[in-house]
Amino acid sequence: MNEVDYSQLKIPTHVGIIVDGNGRWAKERGLTRLQGHDAGFENLKQLAQYILKRGVKVLSLYVFSTENFKRAEEEVNHLMDLFVIMYKKNLHFFMENNIKVVFSGRNEPLPPRVIKARDELVEATKDNAGGIVNFCMNYGGRAEIMDAVKKIAKSGIDVDTLADEDFRHYLYQDLPDIDLMIRTSGELRLSNFLLWLNSYAEFYFPKTKFPDFHEADFDQAIIEYTSRDRRFGGIKNN
Ligand code: IPE
Ligand code: IPE
Ligand code: MG
Repeated sequence: MNEVDYSQLKIPTHVGIIVDGNGRWAKERGLTRLQGHDAGFENLKQLAQYILKRGVKVLSLYVFSTENFKRAEEEVNHLMDLFVIMYKKNLHFFMENNIKVVFSGRNEPLPPRVIKARDELVEATKDNAGGIVNFCMNYGGRAEIMDAVKKIAKSGIDVDTLADEDFRHYLYQDLPDIDLMIRTSGELRLSNFLLWLNSYAEFYFPKTKFPDFHEADFDQAIIEYTSRDRRFGGIKNN
């Protein structure tokens, strides 16, 4: 396949990906759901590196929702193990690529081993300046908004002085709006992902399941994004 000329394309500042379809990918191949997650996580690293290299500044990856704790214990435990392995094993990779890693989500009920691996990775990469990966893990969009409201209430600030634009400072991470939101596997919903930041995002819903979503698929997303006319409620902007 020909290389895509990125100089002709619009590069979003913040890309969000809902990592979806691992289970169905595995089922199609007669594999277990756990093997589907292994394949999905295998794909994550190279894809993240590619996306940041193309000039995207922030990449938010939805890897586990607050609601995902409803799944079978075996699957939840396997995902928790994968998180620990991914955070520990890839420290070198994040350092080499100058990537700062941050997290969005609640602590409870994450196992201590996951919290420890998460915190160590955050601490080690905090001065990296070559792009941000924001793992949304045990993340819920409504929970995040509720937690922000509680933070504001406890801060004692005069709420009458708070502008819409200030609200993001109270979210789990202080990040720009999502420009391009990709959900793999053909599902057409947000499933509680970054509700505040997705307000004016362009949505892209490839049918490809996440373990098969590679660099060329991301190129297609950027080509589509470039063709979109973002108006933000204003007039057509050519
Ligand atoms: C997404 O794949 C991964 C996580 C939720 C961690 P799924 O496990 O939701 O895969 P499907 O939707 O069942 O195919
Ligand atoms: C959303 O996917 C959460 C993540 C990808 C981490 P789900 O597979 O859990 O979402 P639903 O249940 O299909 O809405
Ligand atoms: Mg799913």
